[in-house]
Order: sequence, then structure tokens, then C-alpha cells
Amino acid sequence: MILLGIDTSCDDTSAGVVVDGRRALSNVVHSQVKVHHPHGGVVPELASREHIKNIMPVVEEALNRAKVGLRDLDGIAVTIGPGLVGALLVGLYYAKGVSYASGVPLVGVNHLEGHILSIFLEEQLPDFPFVALTVSGGHTNLYYVEDFGQYTLLGQTLDDAAGEAFDKVAKISGLGYPGGVAIERVARQGRGDRIRFPRAYLTKGSLDFSFSGLKTAVSLFMKKWEDHPDDVALADIGASFQESVVDVLVDKAILALRQKDAPALVLGGGVACNQRLRERMKVRAVEEGARLYTPRPEYCTDNGAMIAVAGYHRLQSGHCVGLDLDVRSRFPL
Ligand code: KG4
Ligand code: ZN
Repeated sequence: MILLGIDTSCDDTSAGVVVDGRRALSNVVHSQVKVHHPHGGVVPELASREHIKNIMPVVEEALNRAKVGLRDLDGIAVTIGPGLVGALLVGLYYAKGVSYASGVPLVGVNHLEGHILSIFLEEQLPDFPFVALTVSGGHTNLYYVEDFGQYTLLGQTLDDAAGEAFDKVAKISGLGYPGGVAIERVARQGRGDRIRFPRAYLTKGSLDFSFSGLKTAVSLFMKKWEDHPDDVALADIGASFQESVVDVLVDKAILALRQKDAPALVLGGGVACNQRLRERMKVRAVEEGARLYTPRPEYCTDNGAMIAVAGYHRLQSGHCVGLDLDVRSRFPL
């Protein structure tokens, strides 16, 4: 089965073509970074307008690169949530139009399921069950995954998402948007043990996260540091902040593995591009006797191919096909 996947949930317009939920024939992403950069974050209204401009060329390029036409498709999968409503509507209504005109079935996909299943685009596959950590600009979730479509939420952020913390700290540090990449870059020159920022573990055994206290701690530190830099460099602050986020993500993911006695851990979402997180997680997973599966960065950040993967499994299980789909800004799995 050949599926086209479309995602316009946030600030990337993306489309990909995937065979049997496994093999990507194309994956095209149009980033809106330049548009949102001057504002230091995503402006929802601008995101919707950009999606309208870009959705047609992005989908056409995805089909061209895959060398398939509409009549070769067995399904069109589109993200219906969670995300920015105006942005989601662009993808959904474009997909509805294409589906109506071509007669190709339409299937609505949860963006988070896309992140969890993006690992299926890689050669090395995990067996079920596994623990999945999805860390992005909007979400920090731990799931126990028993099969396609069978996800149990083990923990989530109570306030900011991990990526949001990266973005906010980058903004107050003048490192710009998007923050994750900028902080990772500057952190390479700094010492992660220079400043001891807080780590929120919450109650004993909890798999929930909280990053807003850390963000405030960095902000307060920066205010004092600007007047009295001592011998602390901005790189040290970036590295120390990153170390704090990575410590919590690694510790909680390992705790989830233990609690569920799971043999494998799968990462997904934009923050999973972070090399420090990948390296530290690898070491701890191996110590734990578990295998770590990390999609390549292109499949960690938002992309259409992962939506095609999730859509394929939805279609296989006879799920929601139709033109009466609507978007949902909040959409728990
Ligand atoms: O999955 P994604 O592309 O979009 C959402 O669904 O949110 O994730 C974007 C988030 C942003 O917050 C960005 O700062 C973060 O992922 N990110 C990173 C890195 N690359 C992207 N965070 C830390 N280190 C990175 N290398
Ligand atoms: Zn995402």
C-alpha cells in the first residue's frame, strides 16, 4: 500500500510518500524558520498563511520525488491534531480536496502517534512491547507501546515541554529561534557541570515531567550573570541547562523501562535530535540491558512520512476514513 502523509500541525509544511508503513519514497519538509525567527517563536496566524502558500508545492514535490501519481495512492493520511488549529485546518482541508477529487481514501492521524511510529521508517525495528519517549516543542510524553494502536500514557509534562524549555532558554539568552539546535551548538563549547540548575523529579516513582522551574532558574541566573559574569561563559549556561534536561529525560525513561520491564526504548520528536541526549540515553539503556532505537534526525522533527506510517496502520485496522473529519488542538492518544 502506498500512502501520502501530510503534516501542518505547527511550523513545518511537510509531506511524504511511504510504502507499507515502512519504506519512505520521499519526505519533503518546508521549514518556516525564517518567517518566525524575527518573532522569537511560532506566530500561529503566520504559520497558517505560510502553510496555505506551501502546501501545494510541498505535496507535489513529495509525489514527484517518489515518482508516484495520485492514482497510485491507496490512502492519504493527514494530521488532525494536536497542534495549532489554523495550521491543522490547512492540511486537513487540502487533503480533503485531494481525496474528494481523486477518490483516494482519507485517514486522520494523531501527530503523537506519528512521532512514536517514525522509528518504523528505519532499518532496525523494535519488537513490541517498548517504551517510547516523545520529546518535542509541544510534548514530553512517555508511553508503553504494546502494538500498533495500543499506547498507554505513563507520564507527561505538567507544564512546559522539553523543546519549549530549549526554545525559551534560547530566547532569553539571545540565541534565537529555534532554540534546541542553537543551545546544542553553543553547549558543545561549555561545561555542563559548571552550574547546578534544578532537576524536577516530582514524587518518587513519578514518570511526569516539569520544566518550567528550570526555565525560571536559568532566567534568574542570567539576570545576575549579565551584571556579574565572573568566569562563567554563555556556553557553560547552555551546557548546564542542557545537562539538566537530559538528566531528567534519561532518568525517567530508564525508570519507565524498569517499571514496565520493557526490553526496548524508542525516541521520537524534535528534541530527540539532540546528540547529548542520544549519547547519554544509549549508555544508560545498555547498562539496563535494553536496546535504544533512535530515528534519524529527519524523522525526529515533524515530517509527513511518519504521518503516512501511522495512517497505514490506521487503515489496516479499518479506522476512520471519510471527509467529515475535523481538527483537534488537544488530542490525547
Ligand atoms: O517534533 P518537532 O519538530 O515539532 C513539534 O512537534 O513540536 O520539535 C520541535 C522542537 C523545538 O522545540 C526544537 O527546539 C526542538 O524540537 N529541537 C531540539 C533540537 N532540535 C530540535 N531540542 C534540543 N536539541 C536539538 N538538537
Ligand atoms: Zn511534532
